Amino acid sequence: MTETMLAVIGGSGLYDIDGLQDARWQAVDSPWGAPSDDILTGTLDGIKLAFLPRHGRGHVHSPTDVPYRANIDALKRIGVTHVLSVSACGSFREAMAPGDFVIVDQYIDRTVLREKSFFSSGMTVHVSMAHPVCADLAAAAAEAARKTGVTVHDGGCYLAMEGPQFSTLAESRMYRESWGCDVIGMTNMPEAKLAREAELHYASVAMVTDYDSWHPQHGEVDIKQIVAVLKGNAARARSMVAHLAGAMADLPAAGCATGCDHALDFAVLTAPE
Ligand code: ADE
Repeated sequence: MTETMLAVIGGSGLYDIDGLQDARWQAVDSPWGAPSDDILTGTLDGIKLAFLPRHGRGHVHSPTDVPYRANIDALKRIGVTHVLSVSACGSFREAMAPGDFVIVDQYIDRTVLREKSFFSSGMTVHVSMAHPVCADLAAAAAEAARKTGVTVHDGGCYLAMEGPQFSTLAESRMYRESWGCDVIGMTNMPEAKLAREAELHYASVAMVTDYDSWHPQHGEVDIKQIVAVLKGNAARARSMVAHLAGAMADLPAAGCATGCDHALDFAVLTAPE
């Protein structure tokens, strides 16, 4: 049976992991190019854990330039089975306030400048994205987040935008009022799609930093505010990861209800030779 290994892809505000035993940064090669950075590996609460800073240490990759395929491939190569994405987001809901954590369960992908598949040449593969996150891992992440004392929202539709500019007021209103989105960010796509193609369990915790631009009392998004909220949340994000590591042994060992670990079973259309 495959040994569980949890990877955390940390976004803005999460650049390391507390309490990792036998910690070491290692370079991992991938045919898809270099990952965002070396990968920190070690053991936490008896669970093998990997940490990859999505934007690289020093925050050198913009959301468009993050090497998403190399990142997911490199994690798969070192034995990762589960991926927890941690990222910052804007909120379209009054109740999802800055400082809160949202356990994403749906996406609308509006990114346009990124490679979105491992199967773009010579092979036709269509994985299901109807249920884009692993329900078991998402539930465990929600529980782990709650243990930190933060307000957690179970479920939310994440609008993935290209950026790097923030949305216009008209876009913000459209995503909120017509499209029914709950949060907005620039990094979860194509990450979630690639994780599914790689048959990894993927869940996403989006940390609310602002109300995007729709909120009449909050004005425009600005980076100063985002950074301040992220700094306030960094310790909670690290504590959430520690609680999640402690809970990984309780996840179902086989038979993922979402089907993450056998996503390719009925997805290949290319005829065998
Ligand atoms: N990341 C944090 N806040 C954001 C916003 N309002 N739009 C897109 N990405 C974000």
